[in-house]
Amino acid sequence: MEILGNERHKIFHGDALEVLRTEIMDNSVDLIFADPPYNIGKNFIGHKDKWSTEDDYLNWCYKWLDLCIQKLKSNGSFYVMTATQFMPFFDIYLRKRIKILSRIAWYYDSSGVQAKKYYGSMYEPILFCVKDTDNYTFNTDAILVEAKTGAKRKLIDYRKAIPTVYNSEKVPGNVWEFARVRYRMDEYENHPTQKPIALLERIIKASSKEGDVVMDPFSGTFTTCFVAKELARNTIGIELQNEYVKIGLRRMQLANEFNGEKLHKEIRTFETEKLATAYNLKLFEEPNGKYFHSKH
Ligand SMILES: C[S@@+](CC[C@H](N)C(=O)[O-])C[C@H]1O[C@@H](n2cnc3c(N)ncnc32)[C@H](O)[C@@H]1O
Repeated sequence: MEILGNERHKIFHGDALEVLRTEIMDNSVDLIFADPPYNIGKNFIGHKDKWSTEDDYLNWCYKWLDLCIQKLKSNGSFYVMTATQFMPFFDIYLRKRIKILSRIAWYYDSSGVQAKKYYGSMYEPILFCVKDTDNYTFNTDAILVEAKTGAKRKLIDYRKAIPTVYNSEKVPGNVWEFARVRYRMDEYENHPTQKPIALLERIIKASSKEGDVVMDPFSGTFTTCFVAKELARNTIGIELQNEYVKIGLRRMQLANEFNGEKLHKEIRTFETEKLATAYNLKLFEEPNGKYFHSKH
């Protein structure tokens, strides 16, 4: 295990269970966002996201779920994700230990190939939990969205003692539509399950304040810590894989190099092509990708 970053933005390069057990104080974190491997066979740089049995996966999850609750302050908030088929187990486990306030569906349209003989999955579930329903941060004004019905049609609410126009803004409901991160988007990083900035913005703005501590035990591309830093929160990120820690250090501008290696964002194929055209360079296909070879 290795500790990187600085006092306000810590990156733990290691196993989440070990770091949570040994490095993070109990009752010290204001907001936790946990987006673990889903046990669906994604490839995290050769590390297969697949346990021998579902019970093995769930028993592993129960350990870090307990630790997250332990690390959360008494007025803290906990958001947790997993695959749709495992979320019912998380829900049943967590409701005895913490208060689940919202069961959120992050919905997205998918441009990929759709299931033909069953209904394809178009959402991922998120649980929003708090330790104390009488004392937790929820910054309503920071996350208001446009109210699409009454106000837009300029309707008057006659149920009120003094009839008034409908509010033009409201707190979002529990179905959230955000585009998935695609290859051509600016925020794209080379990771199979990167979460969108917009999703984390809503969560962090709603459930923390400037100066609070935001923790993500399975950081991946460090979306949570990146957004939290932009929003002047302190951050703790934990990640097992070297390659993803490098993304975190660069994305959060915590280092320009790591173990002597310069950190830079991977150039995508379409960017290589654009550059080649701009500089009149010839492209050659190599097994490890495209690169510039010589002038035309
Ligand atoms: C679903 S991804 C998180 C993606 C992240 N939310 C993002 O926006 O990029 C899960 C991450 O957990 C990491 N991981 C898997 N097992 C871990 C463990 N035991 N401790 C710490 N990180 C782990 C994987 O390498 C992967 O990057």
